[in-house]
Amino acid sequence: MLFLSFILALFSAASPVHRIGPNRRYNPAEYGLPENSMIINDISMGFLPQFETGQTIEQLNNALPYPMSIVGDYISISAEDMSLPQYQQQQANLLALYPRPVYMATIMPVDGLYAFDSSQADAVSYAMNDLNNQGFTVWIRFAYEMNGCPAWNAWGCDPAGFKQAWEIMTTSLRANAPGCYMMWSPNIDAASNSTYPGNYAQYYPGDAQVDLTGLSLYWFGYQQHENTLPTTDFFINSVTPFYDQNKPFIVAETGAAYHYELDTDTPAPGGATEYDIKTQWFDQLFGTYTKTQFPLYVGAVWFNYDKDENRNGTMQTIDYRALLGNPDVQTAAYHLDAPY
Ligand SMILES: *[C@@H]1O[C@H](CO)[C@@H](O)[C@H](O)[C@H]1NC(C)=O
Ligand SMILES: *[C@@H]1O[C@H](CO)[C@@H](O)[C@H](O)[C@H]1NC(C)=O
Repeated sequence: MLFLSFILALFSAASPVHRIGPNRRYNPAEYGLPENSMIINDISMGFLPQFETGQTIEQLNNALPYPMSIVGDYISISAEDMSLPQYQQQQANLLALYPRPVYMATIMPVDGLYAFDSSQADAVSYAMNDLNNQGFTVWIRFAYEMNGCPAWNAWGCDPAGFKQAWEIMTTSLRANAPGCYMMWSPNIDAASNSTYPGNYAQYYPGDAQVDLTGLSLYWFGYQQHENTLPTTDFFINSVTPFYDQNKPFIVAETGAAYHYELDTDTPAPGGATEYDIKTQWFDQLFGTYTKTQFPLYVGAVWFNYDKDENRNGTMQTIDYRALLGNPDVQTAAYHLDAPY
């Protein structure tokens, strides 16, 4: 055991930058992140599992050397249904997890911003306070991608409406779930012009009502429908204008798209391989250089989906998965602490 520690110490000394699991320099507890989980170069790795196709947290964790640091889910709420159905479906699976990952609860006010009221906010707060009492740190990612314009969500493209709903949620959370965090989480890409207020800055509710900042940031390839490699410093260039020196920062939704012609196995044009696209995005997300640029960058949550969608006018099948898809990509994710 002593000998092993010695070898490990030598290894750490020889490559002081690539570290995973418990070998990290900051105290993850400061952000509610668990010890002994996927933490690469001091950046936590989380996942948004595609639950509706049967993916499970356990399956993803079995493909990793340490359990995911953060698990995300999408939860709808409305006056008609305040039961948080997607959370209810996962509750037992969550409670079985040790160590406790952070639970990133993406709350979707599906009836729109003006229909969201304090009874709905309280339903969220009470459930998440219970989860907090079970040892989970909870990040409330309320009305995510609110800056999507023209509105791509029922709660989108309305800065004033967003701020009033956000205040209702924050007031309830502060009173009823004081251990939970409010995560303000727009999307990097949104139309912004005289008609459509897509610029995320307009949606910022103020420092007192924001504990963490999050961002949806993907590599989609050329014109968002070709298989091309991430451009140099795409991550750094995108994050720099967003990053706030005073707030922890999380890439709340990310992935690298591998595009197919709709419902086929024929890759879209572009020519780059799935492996190169995804592993080069891993490098940008988890590289030491990134952490140096953004000291308050604490984690990235991978959108582990395979789905048909319309991207910039073209319907395609897009495989975003890091795990359970391409086996070489999965191996690279497993070895994120070492050259792959
Ligand atoms: C604003 O952007 C939207 C979405 O890209 C576009 O459809 C619309 O024509 C633009 N309007 C103006 C006034 O530029
Ligand atoms: C969407 O596609 C058009 C061409 O079809 C291109 O000019 C435009 O830059 C693309 N938008 C993005 C965000 O890639």
